[in-house]
Amino acid sequence: MRLLKRGWLDLLLKLAFILVSLWMLVSLSHIATGWHPSFILSLRWLEYTDNNGGPEIVCNCSAIFQGELEAIEEAKILAITRDFRKSVQISDDFYINASENCRKFKTDRKYLTFPLSQEEENFPLAYSMVVHHKVQNFERLLRAIYAPQNFYCVHVDTKANPSVISAITAITSCFPNVFMVSKPVKVVYSAWSRVQADLNCMADLYNISTKWKYFINLCGQDFPLKTNLEIVKALQLLRGSNSLESEKMPESKKWRILKSHSLTGDTIQGTGQDKKPPPFKLPILSGNAYIVVNRGYIRSVLEDTRIHALIEWAKDTYSPDEFLWATIQRMPDVPGSTRPNIKYDMTDINAIARLVKWSWHEGPQGSLDAVYPECQGSHVRSICVYGAGDLNWMIKQHHLFANKFDVDTDSIAIYCLERYLRHKALSEIH
Ligand SMILES: *[C@@H]1O[C@H](CO)[C@@H](O)[C@H](O)[C@H]1NC(C)=O
Ligand SMILES: *[C@@H]1O[C@H](CO)[C@@H](O)[C@H](O)[C@H]1NC(C)=O
Ligand SMILES: *[C@@H]1O[C@H](CO)[C@@H](O)[C@H](O)[C@H]1NC(C)=O
Repeated sequence: MRLLKRGWLDLLLKLAFILVSLWMLVSLSHIATGWHPSFILSLRWLEYTDNNGGPEIVCNCSAIFQGELEAIEEAKILAITRDFRKSVQISDDFYINASENCRKFKTDRKYLTFPLSQEEENFPLAYSMVVHHKVQNFERLLRAIYAPQNFYCVHVDTKANPSVISAITAITSCFPNVFMVSKPVKVVYSAWSRVQADLNCMADLYNISTKWKYFINLCGQDFPLKTNLEIVKALQLLRGSNSLESEKMPESKKWRILKSHSLTGDTIQGTGQDKKPPPFKLPILSGNAYIVVNRGYIRSVLEDTRIHALIEWAKDTYSPDEFLWATIQRMPDVPGSTRPNIKYDMTDINAIARLVKWSWHEGPQGSLDAVYPECQGSHVRSICVYGAGDLNWMIKQHHLFANKFDVDTDSIAIYCLERYLRHKALSEIH
C-alpha cells in the first residue's frame, strides 16, 4: 500500500515536472515570436546586481550617470587608489579555469543565451574583434555585445602573451557563434598587418554565415553605448548604407601614401621612395580603422578586383587602416557607398561607428571650437581613456561604440556602462 502511494507520488511529480518544462518551452518560444507573457518578468535574474559585481559595487552608477559631481569625484579617487586597482585585476588563469565549465561560466557571467526579440533575431550582426592583451576588457566587451544570433570573429595578435591567447581561446570555445580567426597575424601598429587582421576576420565571417546583415569591427578597448536592439534599429535606419568616417585627406597626412614604407623589426619606417599613384586613379580618402558596413561592402572587399588592386597598392603605405575603408566607401558600385564628391564627406562625429575623444578637440562647456567636453579620464596617445565622469555625455551621442575603455585605468566607467546597458536591454522587451 505504501509502495503504491510512493509510485503515485513519483508519477505526479514527474507529470508536474513535464508540465512546468512544457510551459517554460512555450514561454521561451514566445520570446522569439515577440509575444511576452508575464514570465518575462523573471528575466530580472539577468540584471547585473550588486551580488555579482566586482569591487566597483561601492559606486553609485545612477548618480554618476546623472552627472552628480560628488559621485563622480568619489569614483575618480577610487579609480586611482592602489588597493582598488589591484582588486579589479583578474588573471588570465582565472578565465582559463572559469570557462572550463562553459555552462556555469555563461550562467555566472549572465550571458544572454536567447535573442531578446524577434527583431534582433531577424537581423544578425557580424563582429570582428582585434585584441592583443587585457583579457578582462575583452570578456566584458564580449558579454556586453553577445547575442546568440550574431557572429563574432576574434583575432588575437600572434605576438600576444601565450596566456592571453589561451584565455581568449578558452572563452570563445564556450560559444558556437564566437570563434578564433583562422589566420592570425602579428599586428604592427600603423602598418598593413592591422588591416590584414580585420580582412582575415571578414573572410571568415563572410564564409561562416550568409545571414548577417551588417559588419562592425572592434578592438579590445571599445565598448558599446547601445543595446543590441538599439544597434539593430540604428542599422535598419541606414537602409543599406554604411556609416564610417570618410573625408578629404588633409595635406599633413599625404606623405603616408606618397612614400613607400617597410618594416624594420616591429616598427614601420619610410624608405624614402616615391609610390606610384593609386590604381584606377582612385581618390584616397581619410578615415579611421572602425567601420559599420553592410554585407555587400564586405563582399566587395573580398571579391572586387579593383579593391584587390587597391589593397596591393596600400600594403607599403603608413597606417592604411586610416584610409583604406574610407576610400572603398567612396568607390562606385560598392554597396552602401557614396560618391567621392566632397559634399558626401562624413566625419567621425557624423558617422555612428565610433566615438573617440582626441585631446586637441576637447574644450570646456561653452567653448566655440571644442568638439566635445574635456576627458574625465586620462589620455593615451592623445586619445581619451574614459572615466566615469564621461558617461553622462557619452550615452547621449548617436555612436554605437566608444573607444577607449580600460579596466586598468577606470573600471568604474565600464561597470556603470555595462549595468546601464543590461538594464536597458531587459526593460526594452516589456
Ligand atoms: C545613488 O544616487 C541616486 C541619485 O542621486 C540617489 O537617489 C540614491 O539614493 C543613491 N543611492 C545610494 C545607495 O546612495
Ligand atoms: C586554476 O585551476 C588550477 C587547477 O585546478 C589551480 O591550481 C589554480 O590555482 C587555478 N587558478 C586560478 C587563478 O583560479
Ligand atoms: C567557405 O570556405 C570554404 C573553404 O575555402 C569554401 O569551400 C566554401 O565555399 C566557403 N563557403 C562560403 C559560404 O563562402
